[in-house]
Order: sequence, then C-alpha cells, then structure tokens
Amino acid sequence: MDKIVMKGGQELHGEVQASGAKNAALPILASALLADGTSTYRNVPDLADVATMLKVLRTMGCDAERLTARKKDVCEVGVNGHIHPEAPYELVKTMRASVLVLGPLVARFGRARVSMPGGCAIGARPIDQHLKGLKALGADIHLTEGYVEARAKQLKGGTVNFDVITVTGTENVLMAAVLAKGRTIMENCAREPEIEELARVLNKMGAKIEGAGTSVITVEGVDGLKPVDHAILPDRIEAGTLLVAAAISGGNVLVKHAVPEHLEAVVDKLREAGCTITAEGGGLRCKAPRTLNSVNITTTEHPGFPTDMQAQLMALMCVSQGTSVISENIFENRFMHVPELHRLGADITIQGHTAVVKGVKGLSGAPVMATDLRASASLILAGLRAEGRTEVSRVYHLDRGYERLERKLRSLGADIRRVKAKA
Ligand code: EPZ
Repeated sequence: MDKIVMKGGQELHGEVQASGAKNAALPILASALLADGTSTYRNVPDLADVATMLKVLRTMGCDAERLTARKKDVCEVGVNGHIHPEAPYELVKTMRASVLVLGPLVARFGRARVSMPGGCAIGARPIDQHLKGLKALGADIHLTEGYVEARAKQLKGGTVNFDVITVTGTENVLMAAVLAKGRTIMENCAREPEIEELARVLNKMGAKIEGAGTSVITVEGVDGLKPVDHAILPDRIEAGTLLVAAAISGGNVLVKHAVPEHLEAVVDKLREAGCTITAEGGGLRCKAPRTLNSVNITTTEHPGFPTDMQAQLMALMCVSQGTSVISENIFENRFMHVPELHRLGADITIQGHTAVVKGVKGLSGAPVMATDLRASASLILAGLRAEGRTEVSRVYHLDRGYERLERKLRSLGADIRRVKAKA
C-alpha cells in the first residue's frame, strides 16, 4: 500500500485548481442509464470511486470508460437496451455510492438487483429512505440474500417525504421520478449543490425538475430522456481542503474553480479563525493569519457546515489558540482521525459526538494511518504543520476522493511525496 511522506513547516504559496466534484460525478454517471445512447461527461475527476462507478456500469453491459488517450478528464457512457440490471456485492461493498444505480435501473428497465451497501467506517449508513422513496413511486422492493430486488412495470408519480435528509437518497429517488408517470413531489430533500447539478444534467436530458437545491423538489415525469454532454462542477470539498492547507501552513494560496456560494459555511469558519478569504480569478484566495483563533464547528446538512470538512477543520484547530468544540451530527463514527492526530501531539478529548480540541504550540511528525477518506486529508493537513517527518499509510482512502493531492500540495511548496508500495 502506498504511503505519503512529508516534512512539515513549509508555507504554501501559489495557485492550484480544484478538480471536478466526486459527489456530483457519481450520481451523474449513474444517470446515464436513463437514456439510450452515449453520454459524455467532462471535468470528471480521476478518482478510485469514479473508476468503481464506471466498473459497475460496465458490469451491467454499458460501454463506460475514461478517454485517457485523448482527454483524461472525459468519460463516455454508452447504454443500449440490453442491460443486466445488477450491481454485485463485490463492487458495492467497495463503494456504497454504487447504490445510486438503483433508481435509474428501476425507472428505465423496470427491475434492479443491487447489493445492500452495508456499513462503512464512518457509520451504519442505512438506505431505508432510498427504498421508502422508490416504494412511494410504486416499486415493489424485496431484500433477499443481502440484495435489494426492485421491480416496477411503470413507476407512478407520488409524494415522497424523507424522514431523514439524505443526499444520495434524494438523488436515487429523483432519478427514478423523472421517468415515473405523472407528478412527484419530494419533501425534506437534501439541498447540496451536487443535487442541483444532477437536476441540471437530468433537465438537459429532457427531464422536468423544479426546486432542486431546496427541500421540496417537483418532478413531472416524461416518457424518455436523451443522452447528454456535460462538464461536472468543481469539487467544493477538495477546494475547502486546499483552503485549509493554506491556513494551516501559514501561507497564501489561490484555489481556482472554488465556488464561493458552495463554501459559505466553510469560508465563514476560516474567516472566524482569522484567515483572509477573498474571491479572485475564478476562485478563492486564502491568506493565513500569524496565529489562528479556535472556533466551534457543528456539522449539519447543507447549507450548514459540511460533515465532509469536519476532519480538515479539526486538524486546523489542533494548532489554533484556544479551545474548539466540534460536534459531528451527521455520522455516528466520524472521529477516527482523532487517535491519529493524538500521535502527532494534538490535544483532543471526545465526549460522545463532540470533540474538544485544545490548540497546542506545535505538532510533531510521526507515522499515522488513514482510516477513511476525509480522515486521510486531515492527517496530511496536520503533517504540513508538524515538525519533522510524518508518514500517512493506507492512502488508498485518500485516492477515493482526491485527485493527486500530494502533487497539488507539492506544487504549492509542500515537502511531500508518495512512496509507492513495494510490488
Ligand atoms: C453523501 O453520502 C456523500 N456521498 C457523503 O460524502 C457525505 O458525507 C454525505 O452525503 C453527507 O453530506 C456522496 O454523495 C457519494 P446521507 P450519503 O444519506 O448520501 C442517514 C465523502 O466524504 N441515512 O446524506 O450516503 C445516514 O446514516 C462522502 O465524500 C439514513 O438514516 O449520506 C446519515 O446519518 C462521505 N437512511 C445521514 O442520513 C437513509 O436511507 C446522512 O446520510 C440514508 C441516510
């Protein structure tokens, strides 16, 4: 397994570009199933999770590939009528977002057999709301041998009221509703920018969706959709992570393609911590203060502070002046970066779903282990600051959601490199 080796203490300066959004690319690639023909997607990040989604689509019989020869960031997905509507456990267990094929398969092909994703490091992450929504549209759902078996001759529009705000649950039901007969009203929807982006793509394909990005989405079902050519929006979580890299290193960095309105809660907290954040050159510039103030963080659904940025802000709070109280309200086990940050000298106490972070004068490098995607980013950020050498192992977690993060940080002056695992 590869590891990332770094020597802390370099201030980061210069400019870097955010890649396409992982959490938009995944549902959008699945939405190709809704139309006959070949859809083209641009600015698709080169990530392990994207490769897994392409593999899931190929397993079903789609021609799904990244055009590495011509343009690396372009993917094409060709769908014909002969699709085997099944997503096997072997693939779904490596990436739970594979469950996003469920809605499109039932809507377009009338049946689907998709493995239950099972839990993951950060929580149980059930899909009961996905299934509740599909049932409300008339799908017949059975759970057998760890698989969801869904059938529907023709989905019918209906009212879906989510008991829990769920991003992929909203996306799955939305992709089913676009081909249901009649009107669907979805209430208590997730409001993430990635949901607005998915609706934008579906409407370009011929769907009739209103209200995406708000908690009530209305869909008028249509008889069919056509393939699409679309460029994916930038990744707000990667952009936020790069802004924190500037902040923790004491540097001054322009993150190009960062979209200010997608990062308001994060930018507010970085400003409260003393950073100067300004919109510039089609992105956001972060200028770190001499000393950071401790701030309190409470993760909530968008537009609140995103859970996907919690670990990164915790790393920053480890070296701020004062005490920061961080409450994680979305996932039940998203503090696994804490014991690893302790190894770097951080002073963090966990009390239930709250972490109390006392800023320390400095961190010192050590070997640490990544446990999940955003935890790995948190450890790299802390390593940028820690005195001496930090080694982050199990970086396959990082590769799921960050496109060559170490190269981007090195281009800003970080002393960081990837050590390939011995074959
Ligand atoms: C999406 O996951 C993101 N993944 C996650 O990003 C992100 O952390 C999460 O939304 C929250 O913002 C993708 O978009 C591919 P949820 P998702 O359904 O949709 C509970 C990353 O780091 N819930 O919004 O799986 C669930 O247990 C990843 O990029 C139910 O109870 O998250 C959780 O407590 C990690 N029943 C809460 O809702 C359901 O049917 C929010 O989960 C569905 C969810």
